[in-house]
Amino acid sequence: MSYQTFRKLFFKMDPESAHDLIISALKTMQANSFVSKQFEKKMTVNDSRLKTKQWGVIFPNPVGLAAGFDKHANVFPALAALGFGFVEVGTLTPRPQPGNPQPRLFRLPEDEGIINRMGFNNDGIEQACQHFQKLDRPYIPIGINLGKNKDTPNKQASDDYRKGLEALYLDGDYFVINISSPNTKGLRDLQQVTALQSLLTDILEERNRLGKEHGRNQPVLLKLAPDLSEEQLTEIVKTAVSQGIDGIIATNTTLSREGLKSAHKEETGGLSGKPLRQRSTQFVRQIYRITEGKIPIIGVGGIFTGEDAYEKIRAGASLIQVYTGMIYRGPSIARLINEELLVLLEKDGIDSIDQAVGLDA
Ligand SMILES: Cc1cc2nc3c(=O)[nH]c(=O)nc-3n(C[C@H](O)[C@H](O)[C@H](O)COP(=O)(O)O)c2cc1C
Repeated sequence: MSYQTFRKLFFKMDPESAHDLIISALKTMQANSFVSKQFEKKMTVNDSRLKTKQWGVIFPNPVGLAAGFDKHANVFPALAALGFGFVEVGTLTPRPQPGNPQPRLFRLPEDEGIINRMGFNNDGIEQACQHFQKLDRPYIPIGINLGKNKDTPNKQASDDYRKGLEALYLDGDYFVINISSPNTKGLRDLQQVTALQSLLTDILEERNRLGKEHGRNQPVLLKLAPDLSEEQLTEIVKTAVSQGIDGIIATNTTLSREGLKSAHKEETGGLSGKPLRQRSTQFVRQIYRITEGKIPIIGVGGIFTGEDAYEKIRAGASLIQVYTGMIYRGPSIARLINEELLVLLEKDGIDSIDQAVGLDA
């Protein structure tokens, strides 16, 4: 059965039940190493032109799975077998929390988008530590996306991020400070420059301390919202760079509802998918210009095809991520995007993904 046929049935299910079903299937798959290996063989595109090294870490291809899919960090080995070049788990908060009441996840099929107001539902960092101990480490890099608990006041937010870093320091290949989810009240206020300065000072101090202890400074990235003005974005990026941030993820979901047609368009939450594509590409380009390409950017928002990925890369992204695209295009999305990227590179006579970064910036 093609994914398009499967999707028709799948989209009849409530979105969160469908997600839970997929997570169960992934757990079953990763428990069987023979099955996982078969998937890995079928889904992985092995081509040195796709390989890239960022922060000293090797990514076999630039197509990652974005945060919010493996919220509890318990299916990343199965996701690695789907051909992704890296997987970002979380958002994880220090204490487990249930998130917002259901329903909190909505498909917007006419717009090829999703609205979610999940609210950082996750099992917490202690559970995540146990998963990392038990599960086989995949050969691809794993990013760990950190957040703060809903009831932690913003003034103490840095404690939550520091706890995440300390508990999971050796489990992640990079860490993400998520201050851009629209579904935790007040979280985005941490993007304001004075709050951001003090937050990043605390977090990077902790990273440096842990770096000394473990002999390795793990990269810390900042994930930004697409709903900032050009001036705000410039100020935030300059602040983050001067504080010593290692990379930026652009972008999280948007509060904008421009041009939507689907029935659920008025639902509260963050919008992802096709309607976000242009805006997030614009952000990548602007960040690349502000930073003069000196720190890696992960581009995310509305990537469904190799062409969409290539657009983000040419705008300045060294790596890209997908989430909504996988819901609409299916579990082969990493393989499809990687194959399409190779065709585009060939067409332009470019020898590797690295050489395409920022060509249109
Ligand atoms: C259901 C859902 C849950 C998400 N949860 C998180 C999250 O916990 N942390 C986070 O940083 N981003 C989260 N995101 C945002 C994605 O990581 C990504 O930034 C955004 O969806 C844009 O990419 P896309 O258009 O490819 O989906 C979530 C997105 C969706 C659709």
